[in-house]
Amino acid sequence: MNDALKGKRVLLGVSGGIAAYKAAVLVRLLRGSGAEVQVVMTRAAREFITPMTLQALSGNPVRCELFDEAHEAAMGHIELARWADAILIAPASADLMARLAAGMADDLLTTLCLASEAPLYLAPAMNQAMWRHPATVDNAARLARRGVTLCGPAEGEQACGDQGPGRMLEPEQLLALLAEALTPRGRSLDGVAVTITAGPTREGLDPVRFISNHSSGRMGFACAAAAAELGARVRLVAGPVSLPTPAGVERVDVESAEQMREAVLASPGAIFIATAAVADYRPAAVGAEKIKKGADSMRLELLRNPDILAEVAALELGRPFCVGFAAETENLVAHARAKLEGKRLDMLAANWVGARAEGGGFDSEENALELFWADGAESLPRAPKTELARELLARIAARYHETNK
Ligand code: PMT
Repeated sequence: MNDALKGKRVLLGVSGGIAAYKAAVLVRLLRGSGAEVQVVMTRAAREFITPMTLQALSGNPVRCELFDEAHEAAMGHIELARWADAILIAPASADLMARLAAGMADDLLTTLCLASEAPLYLAPAMNQAMWRHPATVDNAARLARRGVTLCGPAEGEQACGDQGPGRMLEPEQLLALLAEALTPRGRSLDGVAVTITAGPTREGLDPVRFISNHSSGRMGFACAAAAAELGARVRLVAGPVSLPTPAGVERVDVESAEQMREAVLASPGAIFIATAAVADYRPAAVGAEKIKKGADSMRLELLRNPDILAEVAALELGRPFCVGFAAETENLVAHARAKLEGKRLDMLAANWVGARAEGGGFDSEENALELFWADGAESLPRAPKTELARELLARIAARYHETNK
């Protein structure tokens, strides 16, 4: 953990949900890392934890009401909004997210969020069906588009007995994310060598034809830009795409999976992020001349391509921190977990492609990611790929530093 929170003024919002009890630990951790903490609770939050507890731990009076004569005389809600360097709402209930997405100011916490220019971080916590409901999905996407950072939720067993996404991230994870987010850009991966694959590969069949896929390279290029923003030395190994090279990024253009493998193994970096949609097979024979039209049908023999990511993750010497992507059309969680374990990765970002991508995945401006690591998971809701890549890189940087402590 760096000292990014030292002296920072964190306004902790607590909304109504069973995870509100974890706010007590969060306040302790925040203060322990040198932050000044003021707590604002919604009415529903007070059904789960008392203001007295959070007051004792934060060392500051807890604010609950918008129209509170005592506080409005001393520190009005506008002053409180101005005071904050960052606002973290944990837990953020479905109702609170809906009110924020609608721009409402019907209690102190939503009013503060509207009145403050401080970055806003939400730690959603709710029943899995509520999190999956199209209304909440929409609200999360709207908030993300406005620059609100959604931290989680995690997957797992829920207080109501359900299993699925909707658990609040643990206070330690929230602390690490907030510290990462408040670390001035350009420092958290300062000087770290990051190699990223992007785009499709083309597997030649003859001088004019190839096998490929719909990857545009946008997700990978966005990751390269986000890593460069964090100060990394980025090497982008790009398949054939027509995108400009992000500022400060070294680009190596390749065509086939074999060329991509060679370029990656030449310098896999300290962090390797495999966003490329590498063709799993290539034609067994590449015609020297254009294959002529003839019979009504023809058979192609294909050979398995090397799995670049699996090979890098198995390196005995200089193995980087390995992040894979998974493009799935069904059973996303099971397939993603199988790839994480099968390829022995440190992290995996899975996304839907095909009919279930709903405008995300291949060749689109937006995407949504499900992140997995050995003992955790997190959803990054739909957002422009540029924003999503920033969120992803913040998590990669946090986990990379954690594993290299
Ligand atoms: O490029 P865009 O249009 O922006 O689209 C983004 C994307 C959908 C391509 C991207 O988000 C994505 O999902 N990339 C991974 C696509 C993929 O090939 O997934 P996979 O499940 O088949 O492969 C799993 C992982 O192994 C990937 O990290 C892949 O890069 C890697 N791999 C796969 C095969 C192979 N031979 N070598 C590899 O390194």
